[in-house]
Amino acid sequence: MTPDLADIQANILRGYRAGHARHFALSAPTPAAAGALLAAVTSGDETACPQVTTAAPWTHKPAYCLNVGLTSAGLSACGVPPAMLAAFPLAFRQGSAARSSLPPTSPTDVGLGDIGTSAPGRWILGGPATGAVHLLISLGTGNAPALEDRSRQLRDQFAADAIVEVFHHDATALPGGAVHFGYKDGISQPWIDGTPGQRPEDLQPTVPTGDFLLGRDYRNHYRGNFLAAIPPVLGDNGTYSAFRILRQDVEAFETFLALAAEHWKLPPELMAAKLLGRWRNGSPLVLTPDAPGPVSEAHINAYDYAPTAAHPVFFDDDIGLRCPIGAHMRRLNPRGALVMGQPHSRRIVRRGMPYGPVFDPLHPDHAERGLVGHFICGDIESQFEFIQRFWVNQDLATSGLRGTRDPILGAQPDSGGRFVMRSSDTRDPIILDNLPRLVETRGSLYCFLPGIGGLRYLASLSAKTASAAKTANAAGEAP
Ligand code: HEM
Repeated sequence: MTPDLADIQANILRGYRAGHARHFALSAPTPAAAGALLAAVTSGDETACPQVTTAAPWTHKPAYCLNVGLTSAGLSACGVPPAMLAAFPLAFRQGSAARSSLPPTSPTDVGLGDIGTSAPGRWILGGPATGAVHLLISLGTGNAPALEDRSRQLRDQFAADAIVEVFHHDATALPGGAVHFGYKDGISQPWIDGTPGQRPEDLQPTVPTGDFLLGRDYRNHYRGNFLAAIPPVLGDNGTYSAFRILRQDVEAFETFLALAAEHWKLPPELMAAKLLGRWRNGSPLVLTPDAPGPVSEAHINAYDYAPTAAHPVFFDDDIGLRCPIGAHMRRLNPRGALVMGQPHSRRIVRRGMPYGPVFDPLHPDHAERGLVGHFICGDIESQFEFIQRFWVNQDLATSGLRGTRDPILGAQPDSGGRFVMRSSDTRDPIILDNLPRLVETRGSLYCFLPGIGGLRYLASLSAKTASAAKTANAAGEAP
C-alpha cells in the first residue's frame, strides 16, 4: 500500500535537514482559537500563514518545513470528546511527565531515566511547574533570516487567533551535521516502506509502514495497526512524537574521555568511538575498528554487527570486539540481529538538532547546550519508551550489558556508571567506571502529529465545538 504522501506531515518519512529551527509550545484558551490556527496552517494560502509541510516529493527544497503536533490536552482543547480521546494509547494520554513519574518497580528501576536533575519537576517544558501546552509547532528553515521571517508570520497568526505562546526553543545545526559531543549525526534512520526515492544501502530490514504511520491500510510489525479505534478521519496518516530537550554536559564528556584514555593507555578518540559505535566523523567502528575511516555517503551506513541471513558474509562482531555491545548505537538499534527470532520492532525516527553555543575546549563552560527535537514512532510505549526504559536505562542481564546503562544517554548511578569494552590483549575485558550522567532531560512532551486531513478535521471540530458553546451560552445553558 503506497502511503498518501500529500496527507503525511514532512520530516517523518524523510528529513528536511534544516539549518535552523524554532519550536513553539502553544496554549489555546478556547476551541475557537485552536481551530482558527489549525485552519490557517492548512488553508493552502501561504501568503497568509506558513503551511504545514507534507511528505509529497519536491523538486526544489521548500523554503521552510512546518510540523504541527498536539498533546492529549490539545486534542481535548479542540473539542475531541472523551470517548474519542480514550481510543488514543494510554502513554500518549498520560503524557510525558506522568509517564516519567511512575514509581520504580525494583531498586535498579529508573523508569524512563527522568530522575534527579532530569525529573519533570525541574523541566522547562512539559513539567508540572510549566504552563499547559496544547500545540507544538516546529519550524525549520535553511538560514536564520528565514527563521525570523516565518516566525514573525506565525506569531502574527497566533496573535490574530488569541493563541498564547507558552515557550519557544531554538536549535541551530553545527558544522558537518555534528552534535555537541562532536559526533556526526543524522546518518542512520529507519527506511519506512512506501517512502519515495532511492533507498540508501544500510543492510537493515525495511520497516513496515504501520510501525510509524497510523492508518487502516497499514500493517505494523505485529500484523495489526496502531490506528486501533481512533476514527480514521482523525488518525489516518498520523504518528506520535516524544519531543525532548536534552542537555549535554560536554565538559564532563571530554574529561571522562581524557581520564579513561590516560588510565587505559588508549587514544581518547577511540574511547569516544567505543561509547557511541561510530568515530566522530561518522565511520562505523565495525568497518574501521582502528582509526576513523573514509566517510563516503554510500558506505557510511552499510554495515551490521554480525552476519545475518540477508548478508551471510560479514564480519562477526558478536562479542563486541570492534563495537561494544553497550555502545549507544548498538544498544539502541541492534540492526539485523534477531530478537526472539524476529527482526526487532523498536525503531525510532530521530529529528533532533543541536541548541546552545559551541563548546570551546580551551574555555570550558557549563552553558546550556544539547539536542532538541522529535523522536517519532507509531507507538510511544513500544518504541520510544521501550528504548528509554529498557535499552537505555535497565541494568540488562544480557552478556556485555549487565550492570551498565547507555553510556551517552543513561541515568548513571550517583556512584558513576560502568561501560564494558572487549580487548584482544590481556586486559580483556576493559571495564570503565565512574561514567557520569552526560545527558539530562530538560523538557518533554508527547505529541500526536496528525495527517493533513486529521488537522483539517480538528480545525472543523474545534469550530463546531466553539459554535455549540456560543449557542449554549446565548441560551443560558451550560455548554
Ligand atoms: C543528546 C542526546 C543524544 C545524542 C548526543 C545522540 C547521538 C547519536 C549519534 C551521534 C548517533 C549516530 C548517528 C547516526 O547514525 O545517525 C546516534 C544514533 C542513534 N541514536 Fe542517539 N543521541 C541522543 C539521543 C537519543 C535518543 C533520546 C534516542 C532514542 C530514544 C536515540 C536513539 C538512537 C538510535 C536508535 C541510534 C542508532 C541509529 C541506527 O543505527 O540506525 N538517541 N545517536
